[in-house]
Amino acid sequence: MLHIKKNMLNDGLLLPMLAYGTATAIFQQDCGRWVKMAYLESDMAHFDCAECYGNEDSLGKAVKELGLPREEVIVVTKCNTPDPRKALERSLVKYVQETGLGKAWKMMEELRNEGKARSIGVSNYRVSDLEETLNSTKVIPSSNQIEVHPYVYDKAKPIIEWCHNKGITIACYTTLASIIYFPRGPVDVVVKRIAEELDATEDQVLMKWAYQVTYGGIIVTTSCKKESLQGQIRAFSDMKDLSHVQIQAIIDAGKGMHQRVYEHYMDDE
Ligand SMILES: NC(=O)c1ccc[n+]([C@@H]2O[C@H](COP(=O)([O-])OP(=O)(O)OC[C@H]3O[C@@H](n4cnc5c(N)ncnc54)[C@H](OP(=O)(O)O)[C@@H]3O)[C@@H](O)[C@H]2O)c1
Repeated sequence: MLHIKKNMLNDGLLLPMLAYGTATAIFQQDCGRWVKMAYLESDMAHFDCAECYGNEDSLGKAVKELGLPREEVIVVTKCNTPDPRKALERSLVKYVQETGLGKAWKMMEELRNEGKARSIGVSNYRVSDLEETLNSTKVIPSSNQIEVHPYVYDKAKPIIEWCHNKGITIACYTTLASIIYFPRGPVDVVVKRIAEELDATEDQVLMKWAYQVTYGGIIVTTSCKKESLQGQIRAFSDMKDLSHVQIQAIIDAGKGMHQRVYEHYMDDE
């Protein structure tokens, strides 16, 4: 079994670089079967979830049925509410917008201090959102989960750099967008060539690229196929890094088309 390398967040939490996402193909569905497959077949114990994916219960049930010790499992959850306490305690009844980001972050800090969350981060935050948050606290988020792939890299670069300078780990989703959502774009031929050069597959190259351009970020992926997952794990166990020239060739090809999968804002939009 290949072992996924680990990464340390700014609060000391050590977690595998590759996470198994429970949205996309298994959004709003019982994800237990796939979570068990990811763990039993590919040794993945870092799961990415969210309140709005509608499957937290099945993730929790699967983790329990697998009998995994708490320290072995990383479950990332996200809530779209300024009251993370209610979300985390599962008594959320409705979304409210009027509380600021700073106040929500204070609650997250309390939850961490109470031991209800081991690490606290954000998702789809722009530089301005992070500045607003940090204005009212000294606790820096451990991670910011955002869309990262070659067709969005130019727009994502400012937030990637900003987070890097503050020690905030980027967690990347939709890293395979050029294959899955926008095939036959300008990036494909370059990624194919690099895959041949590295004796790797195209998805491995794209994931490794995302990892490197985010200074060692976390990659969140989803597949219901154990062969795909096991191939992707190789990118984070024994595959060598892309060279600067290869990294730059993908960046340059990505500039040929701007395409976003999700309608989240970035600073220059
Ligand atoms: N924070 C946010 O706003 C946010 C937004 C989106 C996603 N996410 C997180 O990120 C996770 C990953 O989502 P994603 O959109 O980034 O998914 P992805 O990993 O880019 O793609 C997953 C989909 O691609 C297919 N796939 C995987 N490997 C493939 C390959 N080599 N060739 C062709 N198809 C392949 C899978 O199908 P098969 O099952 O057939 O392999 C699956 O349907 C989500 O589950 C969620 O946890 C977070």
